[in-house]
Amino acid sequence: MAINFDEIIDRNHTQSFKYDTARESGMGFNAIPLWIADMDFRVPDSVTAALVKRTQHGIYGYSTIDDNYFDAVRSWFAKRHSWNVEPHWLVTTPGILPAVAAAVSALTKPNEAVLVHTPAYDRFNITVEKNNRRLIKSALILKDGRYEIDFDDFEKKITKNSVKLYILCSPHNPIGRVWTLEELTQIGGICLKHGVKIISDEIFCDFVHAPNKHTVFAGIKQEFADITVTCTAPTKTFNMSGLAISNIFIADDDIRDDFNDKLLANGIMGGGILPMLACRAAYENGAEWLDELLVYLAGNIAFVRNFLRDNLSNVKLIEPEGTYLLWLDFREFGLWANELKAFTAYDAGVILSSEAGAEGFLRVNAACPRSVLEKAMTKLAKAANAR
Ligand SMILES: Cc1ncc(COP(=O)(O)O)c(C=O)c1O
Repeated sequence: MAINFDEIIDRNHTQSFKYDTARESGMGFNAIPLWIADMDFRVPDSVTAALVKRTQHGIYGYSTIDDNYFDAVRSWFAKRHSWNVEPHWLVTTPGILPAVAAAVSALTKPNEAVLVHTPAYDRFNITVEKNNRRLIKSALILKDGRYEIDFDDFEKKITKNSVKLYILCSPHNPIGRVWTLEELTQIGGICLKHGVKIISDEIFCDFVHAPNKHTVFAGIKQEFADITVTCTAPTKTFNMSGLAISNIFIADDDIRDDFNDKLLANGIMGGGILPMLACRAAYENGAEWLDELLVYLAGNIAFVRNFLRDNLSNVKLIEPEGTYLLWLDFREFGLWANELKAFTAYDAGVILSSEAGAEGFLRVNAACPRSVLEKAMTKLAKAANAR
């Protein structure tokens, strides 16, 4: 491998949410933070070079996207996801969450219902509720170790609550499903039938483990594109969440106008110059880095799978089809909710994430050097066996 993903880079005292917040909340340097979804790997060299070049210029005035930027984004989605986007569909925002919030307020009125599949990325729930919309949950069903959509429940909840908007997370954080073409087509059919619009958050689209394949929801057919706000970003893919840039695609003119109005109303403008240059450099020159990273991550996932089988067999890995997040089933372990999280953080010294409503499960961020993962898993097994 040309890129050394094994390198341990000290992220303490770098204003890192993942590292410094954990330390400030009293967990000390010894706790291994495998929680929030950013990676411990350095961005591709091409991204660093683009940023260094611009910092040497030294002027960071108001900036705009240009043809080169659009071409880099267009070509990434055409090559990697067989999805062709038009220039006028693109709206850039400083992150996906501002776009989700703008889309929620553009596509629904106060007190109208927005549906999510649970367990869900908790910021969706917060965004919906803080905008005074009703949050409707349809639980994914865990069947033979794999989560599935309960389509009857999905449709019933839509009709019963007059749901106006559905937030699709594809691939799904935290449970790691990569939705199939058939599932996405069924979702789209139900939404079209009941006049439900869709936010399709595809931030994890570049992390898909073979033989699974990511399908861009809006690329399936025009009718789906016409009701959808597709949220994409280079930030998860290339580990630059701190640069806050995302590319939102909206094919329908009316939806895009309403969305832009909400951005204006809230004073939200597209990304800054450094994020835009980083995005362009990553999409133009980062494909090889990503391909190597995906091989490395597959090795990390295999390590956790084997480790649990051999050392911690009452904790089950929900086999991830996508993302770098591993959803672990601790239900046989006998600890629940906060007790479980406290056990892993304080007894084992490994900081993991939980999601509301998914007691007995914790999420491991496996995007770190393998030696760190080995250390974390060993700490977890040692504390578990000492109980
Ligand atoms: C599914 C999903 N969407 C959106 C985000 C946040 O995106 P951004 O940092 O661009 O707001 C995250 C962050 O973890 C996420 O997991």
